[in-house]
Amino acid sequence: MMTPERTVGRLSLYRRLLVAMRNRGTKSVFSHELASAAGVTAAQVRRDMMVVGCSGSPAKGYDVRELIEHIGLFLDSSEPESVGLVGVGNIGRAMMAYFEGRRPKLKMVAAFDSDPSKVNRVVHGCRCYAMEDMARVVAERGIQVAMVAVPAESAQEVADVLVRCGVRGLLNFAPMALRVPEHVYVEDIDVTTSLEKVAFFARSRRANKVSVS
Ligand code: NAI
Repeated sequence: MMTPERTVGRLSLYRRLLVAMRNRGTKSVFSHELASAAGVTAAQVRRDMMVVGCSGSPAKGYDVRELIEHIGLFLDSSEPESVGLVGVGNIGRAMMAYFEGRRPKLKMVAAFDSDPSKVNRVVHGCRCYAMEDMARVVAERGIQVAMVAVPAESAQEVADVLVRCGVRGLLNFAPMALRVPEHVYVEDIDVTTSLEKVAFFARSRRANKVSVS
């Protein structure tokens, strides 16, 4: 059975929280503590931990290191995965900086850009190639996953090229829906919509508070 997308998202979030706990010296954690940090219920945490094969003890909770290891075994591939990036602009460079050395199992190995002034540069340890080199580099480096960080008007054409080169997963920053074949998985990151949502709900909560008092 396919693991639901939301479970995968929560496991990724738990791991980030658990790594921060481990770095602070925390050895064990109760489901309600992790739940409160992740904004979910303790029952949800326990169900998710069953998926990765971990059960805590009522007295001591879960072993933090063991949870991190089990989530890793479940989420990560056994070999490091090569990630590509198209669009070495503001967002692209920020992603390169963020991922440099942070996720050993997801390594950004190549970037691509249509701007000749960016080609052959090494940015945060990652080489930038011309679009014409994509098919070769994707095959040589075994890239299956790529980030799309180009302007909206170029995003579909870039996605088409990536898919033709054999990429099967896209993280799309461009504010437009990509059309891809069924075997390709797309995740959209829409910061503007998220920010507008936050501003909207912050406003409506403020209004509610004022009307109550
Ligand atoms: P940018 O203009 O700084 O960088 C875009 C890069 O894509 C440039 O290096 C450009 O040469 C390259 N490019 C353009 N067309 C291309 C093509 N056909 N093939 C290959 N490379 C191409 O843009 P920025 O700010 O990094 O934004 C990237 C995407 O992320 C846009 O779709 C934008 O709407 C979206 N976005 C940006 C945010 C931000 O804070 N900068 C926030 C949310 C979304």
